[in-house]
Amino acid sequence: MAVIGTGWCGGIRAETLARSALPKKLHICDIRPERLAEVKALTNPATATLDYQDIVKNPDIKVVYISTTPESNHYPIARDCLRAGKHVLLEKPIALEFWEADELITLAKRANLKFTIGYSQRFNPKIAYAKKKISDGTLGKPVSVMVSRHLARGLGTKIAKRGRLSPAVMESTHDLDFVFWMLEPAKPVRVYSQGAYGYMQAINGSYDVMWTTVTMDNGVVVVIGGGWNLPPSYPNYCSTWIEITGTEGALILDDTHRDNWLNTVSEGTRFPMSTMPGEQVDEVFAGQMGPETIHFLQACMMDKPPMVSPEHARMVMEAYTAADLSAEINEPVDLPLSNASISAIADMKARLEKSA
Ligand SMILES: NC(=O)c1ccc[n+]([C@@H]2O[C@H](COP(=O)([O-])OP(=O)(O)OC[C@H]3O[C@@H](n4cnc5c(N)ncnc54)[C@H](O)[C@@H]3O)[C@@H](O)[C@H]2O)c1
Repeated sequence: MAVIGTGWCGGIRAETLARSALPKKLHICDIRPERLAEVKALTNPATATLDYQDIVKNPDIKVVYISTTPESNHYPIARDCLRAGKHVLLEKPIALEFWEADELITLAKRANLKFTIGYSQRFNPKIAYAKKKISDGTLGKPVSVMVSRHLARGLGTKIAKRGRLSPAVMESTHDLDFVFWMLEPAKPVRVYSQGAYGYMQAINGSYDVMWTTVTMDNGVVVVIGGGWNLPPSYPNYCSTWIEITGTEGALILDDTHRDNWLNTVSEGTRFPMSTMPGEQVDEVFAGQMGPETIHFLQACMMDKPPMVSPEHARMVMEAYTAADLSAEINEPVDLPLSNASISAIADMKARLEKSA
């Protein structure tokens, strides 16, 4: 197997694979020689290359993890890997354009390849537990779900500098994914979103926070807040609070990570192990991305469907794109997107590109 893009997330994936007995050989790729050398030292790969075409052309490589930035290169790299007959785990977002996502889904389907998107929060035990408690009926008929997620502004700045992608696209995407998963088979039918400007406007013109209301076809109301302007007290701090109510119960999930509180003279307050992908703590913990990486490998080896289907990721893409449009026009947007909405989205993107 191979990891293309061994930055933050790809580094975790490569380290996870290197620690596992499952992979026969690991190959790594990054365009930054210094980062490639760092990950090479950590993972002892069979090969390390600066050109992802070396991975594409190697017939012995069957499974590829694509963890590159900027997000605009997700589509061409995933397309080349799928065309070469490789199973692919691609970090979110699945693509920047709907036609790109559709082409990737078709390529995978036609060649009977596993293709999944890195919605790592599904491997957060609290989220998995919530899914189970909704599915097994403990909460009765679901009534409402609220997710409030805030990231430190340092992380927001890193993400926002890669392009003018909004907090709905880059952060709430995880929450939309797992809430739709929890509420299956219900489907989203209407999205209304509002955004507020603050610190990030000067960085890439985007909102600091977006609050998005989604109505499901069974009447459940979902409210998702996603922001990236917390003060730089912890470089990668991510705090999440979730409230789920149903006719027979309620489930409140505190994922704010204030239970691990490190304070040092040199660096002040830190909330370790809060980052969304995770962080390696020796052999014991790697966050969500560790088990997610192994899950995909096992799905390929055992010929089982991976937990996240690309069609589901495509539905999430429609929802966050609708959120962007709704915030722009101050009106609710129906799902699936109408031709008029798709055309308005194209106009909105053209306007944003022009102003960038
Ligand atoms: N699932 C999660 O919780 C989660 C969290 C953070 C980021 N992400 C997603 O993961 C992806 C990676 O994010 P990151 O924070 O690791 O970014 P990063 O910038 O730290 O790493 C990306 C790496 O890709 C490399 N790269 C760029 N173009 C390349 C190419 N053509 N060939 C090979 N390598 C190339 C870069 O040199 C860099 O090392 C993003 O798409 C992001 O949206 C997911």
